[in-house]
Amino acid sequence: MPYPYQIKTLEQYHEEYKKSIENPEAFWAEIANQFVWQKKWDKVLSYNFTEPKIEWFAGAQLNITENCIDRHLATHGEEPAIIWEPNNPEERTRIITYNRLHKRVCQVAQMLTNLGVKKGDRVCIYMGMVPELAYAVLGCARIGAIHSVIFGGFSAQSIADRLEDAQATFIITCDGAERGSKNIPLKSVIDDALIGNKLVKKVIVYTRTRTPVAMLKGRDLWWEDEMDYAEHQIEKNGVVSFPAEPMNAEDPLFILYTSGSTGKPKGVVHSIAGYMVWANYTFINVFQYQPGQVHFCTADIGWITGHSYIIYGPLSAGGTSLMYEGIPTWPDAGRFWEIVDKHKVNILYTAPTAIRSLMGFGLDYVKNKDLSSLKILGSVGEPINEEAWHWFSQHIGKGNCPIVDTWWQTETGGIMISNLAGVTPQKPAHATLPLPGVLPVLVDENGNILEGNGVSGNLCIKQAWPGVIRTTYGDHERCRTNYFAAYPNLYFTGDGCLRDAEGNYRITGRVDDVLNVSGHRIGTAEVENAINMHSGVVESAVVGYPHDIKGQGIYAYVIFEGSHHEENLTKQDILQTVSRVIGAIAKPDKIQFVSGLPKTRSGKIMRRILRKIAEGETSNIGDISTLLDPAVVEDIIKGAQ
Ligand code: WT7
Repeated sequence: MPYPYQIKTLEQYHEEYKKSIENPEAFWAEIANQFVWQKKWDKVLSYNFTEPKIEWFAGAQLNITENCIDRHLATHGEEPAIIWEPNNPEERTRIITYNRLHKRVCQVAQMLTNLGVKKGDRVCIYMGMVPELAYAVLGCARIGAIHSVIFGGFSAQSIADRLEDAQATFIITCDGAERGSKNIPLKSVIDDALIGNKLVKKVIVYTRTRTPVAMLKGRDLWWEDEMDYAEHQIEKNGVVSFPAEPMNAEDPLFILYTSGSTGKPKGVVHSIAGYMVWANYTFINVFQYQPGQVHFCTADIGWITGHSYIIYGPLSAGGTSLMYEGIPTWPDAGRFWEIVDKHKVNILYTAPTAIRSLMGFGLDYVKNKDLSSLKILGSVGEPINEEAWHWFSQHIGKGNCPIVDTWWQTETGGIMISNLAGVTPQKPAHATLPLPGVLPVLVDENGNILEGNGVSGNLCIKQAWPGVIRTTYGDHERCRTNYFAAYPNLYFTGDGCLRDAEGNYRITGRVDDVLNVSGHRIGTAEVENAINMHSGVVESAVVGYPHDIKGQGIYAYVIFEGSHHEENLTKQDILQTVSRVIGAIAKPDKIQFVSGLPKTRSGKIMRRILRKIAEGETSNIGDISTLLDPAVVEDIIKGAQ
């Protein structure tokens, strides 16, 4: 069998699960033995969830790129590591073999070294979905630099905040990115983000769109030139190689920014060994990956899903990862199905929001495509509703493909609760059972653990798993208060959850002030801060409401003063402001101007009421007697959209 730790039966799942919980050290040591280590560990696991301090494989040394690339070269160096499908279907596909990936990653490592990047330095990567993005990520890992990928949809201001927080000294970007019919001027956004920045030494620019860009002497360099130079330096007898830096197991691998219920996005830090083992183990087991299969994860590498299931999971397994540059609906709503047909995709991993949106275009786009290569389907990012689940199963899977509903988070590094495709039972709209190593508990508001089945509460995790967040960059206390302080000795997910009569978990959504819009995580406080930046805004309150396609939409209540525009234009100005401060993904779907917000006598906004109104409720909004001015509620209901 290709992967000795791939679970093949339900019975085996139960055995492995039991072992993993009763004796995690023995369990994970056996799995970790399948990887390449420069030095083995002294201790598999030691942790406490109070500080928190979590160490996996302490004392070990390794380089993740040896596990993702070098170890596959002898057996399948000429097999595709990455199949790249361009935005424009007329453009040629690129196939990157493991040999080629090795060469390119070594070149990046040499290039970064030439430019003065050192182990531990933070390198910000702001690129479109091109293979060079994967080379950049892995090139950083090869020399021990910490990568921080920023999604191409974030604004200059957001990037500036992240650069500052991470104290990043290098940037890798593109002139522009192609997404559907749009051309996003990435380098120009970076130029704006760098105004006033004193830390960034070099910006490396890969040419993708041939968009004219400003190139600043002494700071900005072309990727192509630097890569060519690096290649000549390290080529010997036709072979290009660069030694993989020995890294400690707990050295940070990357920082990824994500939204919370308060303040600016925080930099979630994952460390090398634990994350590697977790991404690999979950990939192989959840998707039941077999060598040679084509795995298509439709996420962007700017999110954790792309990190774990486009790059690190599939490559550590020696698999073939399909990377798609564009969007699901361009040139038309059949693009995903066309890609599946063209590249004989076996595993398709996507988001409910994409499924719902494509459903809306009807079956004409599906009909003429050959989807018979598909074996397994996956869903991630938000709860999948039953209608979307059945459509996906019936029309894409043709009733033959198991669907894995994978619950996890940026902070968990990899999939936590999910059925294993075709091995453990699936249940529509349920993530079902925890993976080995994951011990979920449900707690009530007072932190009491709810025993037995048929209960619902806040979802926590009781035991350390290899992929757990280690810290929030530069602010460990924030990590503690956010995840480990709500309930003693538990990691708190922020999600509400139900455990049904059979013990299956069903995630019901966030219980904090975090929204999930099209699978993108956005903090209400962040959006409010952005809206409040508009010169005429006095105060605002943002809540989520159910949205047919996006899962959740953003509803903003705004107190506005002194405008010289008409209302409609002012609303657009507010949207523009949010785009500038955060990015277009955070733009409210609805804005309602109000004269006041429902506040308690102590000045707290009662979001419960605003959520009800945003949901369309007009009469049943609950107790408003504790409000300072209950009359506001009537006014807001009258003006609701
Ligand atoms: C939040 C994490 C996991 C990678 C993509 C999102 C929600 C995620 C599911 C699912 C129901 C889900 C949760 C979670 N979520 N997967 N299968 N069913 N909800 O990562 O941006 O860190 O967001 O997404 O609310 O807390 P993220």
